Formats: sequence, structure tokens, C-alpha cells
Amino acid sequence: MNDIRKRINELKEEIEKHNYYYYVLDNPIVSDTEWDKLFKELEKLESEYPNLIDINSPTQRVGAKPLDGFKTDKHRMPMLSLSNAMNNEELRSFNERIKKLLETKIQIEYMAEPKLDGIGVELIYQDGVFIKGLTRGDGFEGEDITQNIRTIKSIPLKLIGKNFPGLLEVRGEVFIKKTDFKKLNENQMNKGLQIFANPRNAAAGSLRQLDAKITAKRPLSINCYEPGVVEGKQFKTQEEFLFYIKSVGLPVNDLIKKIVGSENILKYHNNLEDRRNELDYEIDGTVFKLNKYVEREKAGSRSRSPRWAIAGKFKAQQVTSNIVSISVQVGRTGALTPVAKVNPIYVSGVTVTNITLHNQDEIDRKDIRIGDKVLIERSGDVIPKIVKVVSRENKNAVKYKIKEECPSCEKPTVKIEGDAVTRCVNAYCPAQFKGRIQHFCSKLAMNIDGLGEKIVEQLINNGLIKKLEDIYSINESELARLDRMGTKSARNIITSISQSKNTTFSRFVYSLGIRNVGEHTAKILEKHFNSNIENFMQANENQLIEIDEIGEIVAESIVSFWENKENVNSIKRCLDRGVKISGPEKNRSDHLKDTIFVFTGTLNLLNRNDAKKKVELSGGTSKNSLTKNTSFLVTGNKTGSKVEKAKNMGIPILNEYEFIKLVNNG
Ligand code: IVH
Repeated sequence: MNDIRKRINELKEEIEKHNYYYYVLDNPIVSDTEWDKLFKELEKLESEYPNLIDINSPTQRVGAKPLDGFKTDKHRMPMLSLSNAMNNEELRSFNERIKKLLETKIQIEYMAEPKLDGIGVELIYQDGVFIKGLTRGDGFEGEDITQNIRTIKSIPLKLIGKNFPGLLEVRGEVFIKKTDFKKLNENQMNKGLQIFANPRNAAAGSLRQLDAKITAKRPLSINCYEPGVVEGKQFKTQEEFLFYIKSVGLPVNDLIKKIVGSENILKYHNNLEDRRNELDYEIDGTVFKLNKYVEREKAGSRSRSPRWAIAGKFKAQQVTSNIVSISVQVGRTGALTPVAKVNPIYVSGVTVTNITLHNQDEIDRKDIRIGDKVLIERSGDVIPKIVKVVSRENKNAVKYKIKEECPSCEKPTVKIEGDAVTRCVNAYCPAQFKGRIQHFCSKLAMNIDGLGEKIVEQLINNGLIKKLEDIYSINESELARLDRMGTKSARNIITSISQSKNTTFSRFVYSLGIRNVGEHTAKILEKHFNSNIENFMQANENQLIEIDEIGEIVAESIVSFWENKENVNSIKRCLDRGVKISGPEKNRSDHLKDTIFVFTGTLNLLNRNDAKKKVELSGGTSKNSLTKNTSFLVTGNKTGSKVEKAKNMGIPILNEYEFIKLVNNG
């Protein structure tokens, strides 16, 4: 038995070692057949001696059962994003800013890295063993995708070597190589499965699979580039950190380079931009980070991004195509948007077919006509736009004018002087209604999974939804009768509809699509009305204006929404049909009940309001001045006399990281 155990351990180490040579060093020392032989031997021994299977064995990467959903988990240290430099000038001024922040005139040392176009993730190792993988999420909390991360073969389940830090959090980017992407799509097509628009979407979709068996079939790669919280080891520089993680088996990009001074920033950036198309993975820019961690600390961070780093964006890619037609879409607010259909063209990772032309003024300014050859631009996530007309292919093409009638209800439209938008003002316009229902069901609104554009359209066309509240009286058999709808999908939709009934005030109010009431305003109203919808419905304009951050325009929009009795009735019927509105439950806990915080100095990671909100959501209170009841003083940069006072009073002092850790650990 001991021999078997010994052989199993040898095989596991051998396989991990070869994975490292293959994936991290990109320099395999055995052939695929030899690797397969080792793997098969291990599989065989483990099947004969199942009690010797350990979850970190290379055979167990796809061990677990499909999940019902992803749990979320907080990041111990927020995952910030990067601010952008759009051109050489902005890259130079980044370097100047850094010099000022560091109060130095000498050349600065940076790590220059490619900005990978994938999905940011966090890998957590405890004593060298992989224990958790999270998505970036909103930066504060992400989804627990441990099962899926485990299927990525280049990620070691156990780090190589000994004496690992007790806790090692490593951030990186999961992506799909261009060649792997091509093969994946070919394979998907042959099997009649979904085709992915670009490598980034394919990587994102793969990481979000509830069944890790599917993820395991996707060719995911990873490059690691930043530390999160590390306990039990200290790094002085980014260079040292990257060297260490590479040495313990984590993949690091091989174009990362230490450079000095702003001219080298530009050189690295321009060089990588030129070589961009030669690389086997998509990048959308460069990243420059201070190499020395003491300097990073001195430079500090803003609420969402560090001051010590910058992303250098590449110029937008430009292509040309021809306008096939122009159609006009009617949104939920009645706004008419002209959209150009162009001959499909691939640009920056996506195939573009439709491009918004915004409004009549924009069409006139650029004199865009059907048939024109146009210059199209798209940079990164940005929606494609028409830069200009390159040539007029059809000499008889006439100027394009948006029709005076709504394309949906054929009622006259209105264009108010000074407003660029043409609007349909018919309250019963079917296109507006469809838009409102779609908005109501969308993710940030009532989040009714499955009720997307096509199904909403069918439900309306079949007369199953005539009013908003009808969503809550659809039954399963009616739904199952729709085109291309199976009983299983119908059941899933009915479940989502029923789950959406338990909602929060802010979600519900946002879902209603009241003009000028977005998510943020809905949250302000939630707080003010203490989640009481009846009180909100009765508030008059003056009462609304008195609310902090609510101005005249918003107040007017709300009042005119209630003036339409149809709206009031719809809401009442939604409530009658089981919609239950509660307080902002999500994220709320009371682990900091009776804890009183006082803040001093400028916070870097959060702004003061966000910090106070976090305290409140954890059940604590924030006060402006120190008293004997204060539990903690939280310090940012440029603190004043409070620090000394707290010390004298024996009040514990927290820095921002410690504070975030405390509020997040609910
Ligand atoms: S560093 C505080 N390095 O870009 C530093 N990010 O806009 C944050 N990304 O969310 C990240 N390549 O997903 C860093 N070499 C690189 C990167 C990189 C791609 C992504 C990452 C992040 C986003 C920031």
C-alpha cells in the first residue's frame, strides 16, 4: 500500500512538473504521449485505490457536481481598475504626475506589461494549496468560480516548492488564445453549438458555466500580474513578486519588462501597438506600474483606480464598410434612434453589422446616406461609430431624413427645438411598451432570467402581455405554446418570474423606467422613503425636491409618472399579484452592530460616502467626532489631530485596508 501511495505521489508531482514546463515555461520536456501515459497510470491507480484520491490530484480538476448558482464572496483587498491614457501626451503626463507624487526629479522605475483583453480573476492559495477562485465582480465582491478555475491546467492546484506564504492572493487575466479561439468556434459550429463573438466573450462565458465539465473543454489560459493580500511573505517590488509567482508555477506574461523613464514608456507602448497583431492573444493596451511597492504606497489610490499605475490605450482600429440601409428604432422613452446596417465587418474582436447614428443632427453633420462607404471605428469595449463618409458610391443617394411618423405606431413624432432627439409621444406606442417591458425584466431591474427581447416580443404579439402587470399572470402552458419554447424553458421562466417577486424598493422603482430615475436615484429614494412604496407614490413635487440629490427635473419626472393613473394601477396590480418590496437586504449584515466609526484624512480606495454606506450596511454607525464610545478611527492620507487624540484615548486606529477587511468580513 505504501508503495502505491508513493507512486501516486510521484505521478502527481511528475504531471504537475510537466504542466509547469508546458504551460508556464512554454518549453515542454516530454511529448504529449508521455504525458498521457503518466496521467493514465495515475487514473488507473486512483480508480483501484479510491481512498488515495486527493482533491488536488491532476485527475480531479473536474471533480465536482454542477452548481445551482454561484455564491459571491468578498475580496480581502478591493480589485481596482486602471485609469486610461489615450495617447502619448497622457502617458507623459502620467510620468510627470508620478514624479510630483513621489517628490522626485530622478527617472522612475516601472514595470511595463501588456494589457490583456480577458477576464480579471483572483486566485487564493493557502499554504501553497489552491483554495478559491473569484471573479473581479464589482471590485469588492466577486463570484466564487473555484470549480471552473480548477479546470485550467496551467493553474497549479499546489504551488511548486516549499515554505509558501500562509496566504497568497494573486490576480490575473483569464483569456483564450486567438488560435484556440478559432478552433473552439470551428468545433462549436460543427456541433451546432453557440458561436462566440470574440475570445473575450468566449472566456467570460466559459468561466460562468455552472457545470465545470463544460469549462474544462474550453481552452482557457491565464497570466498572473498582481498581488492581493499576502501573509507570511514580503515583496519589495513588482519584479520580485512576478519572479516569485513564476517560480512557484503561476503563468506570467513574457513581454513584461522593467523600464525607466517616460521615453521608455512610449517606446514600449508604441512597440507593442505595432506588434499587437502578431501576438496569439488579444491585448487592448499596455499597463505601466510603479515597480517599487513603497513608492506605490506613497503615490496612493483614488476610489476606483490606483495613482501608481496607468493603462495606455491603443488607437481605435478603423475599417471601412458600406451602409446597406438605415432603420429607426423606438426606445422605451419614445426616443427615435436611427441605426445604420452595414456589410458585416470585423473590427477589434467583434463583427459589426449595426451602428447607431444617434439622431438627425448627427446624420446631417456627417451627411450619411444609404450606400455610402464609411469609416468605422471601435476601440475596446466602446460601441462602434461612424467616423466619416469616405466616398459616395451611389451618386443618386439622397439626404436621409427620419420620417415624421413613428415607425411603430405611425403617430406624428415631435422634435423640440434645442433637443437633438426626435420622440414619439404616443403613450400607447407598441414599441415603447416593448422597450418598457424589456427594461422591467432586465438584469439590473427585476432580473427575470429568460425574458429577453425575442420572448418579450412574442408575448406582446400573442397578446399575453398587454399591461406591465400581465408579466405576473402568465402561466406555464401559455408560455410553452410560444414558438421555439420548450416545457423546460417555460418552467424556468415561470420560476424566474416568481423569484423576481421578492424584490427591493430600489430595483422595483428602477424597473418602472421613470424618466431620469436611474439606479442611483432609485437608491436615494429607497433610503428616503425607507422602502415604503406607498409613501413614495404619494410624495408631491416639493417633498421630492427637498430630498438631498433630487433636483427639479427628477421630481417633475416622478410626479408626471404618477399623474398617469395607468402607472399607479399597474403598480398596485403588481403588488396584488405577489410582488413584495423589502429594504435593501442585499449585502446587509449586522456583524458591526454597535460599532462606531470615525473617519479622518482622505480615503484612497473608497470615498467617504461609500465608506459610510459600507458601515451602515454592516449594521454600524459613523460619527464625525471622537468620543469615549468610538470603536475605531479609520485613517486615510493627510490626517489631522484626530490620530493623536485617538491614541491618547486608547481608540484603535485602522488603515483603509484593515477597515475594508473588517466591514467585508460579515
Ligand atoms: S493590474 C490596480 N495588469 O485590466 C491594478 N490589469 O482596467 C489592477 N488587465 O481589471 C489590475 N492586463 O482585468 C493589471 N497587466 C495587467 C492587466 C490588467 C489586463 C485588466 C484587469 C483589470 C483591468 C483594469
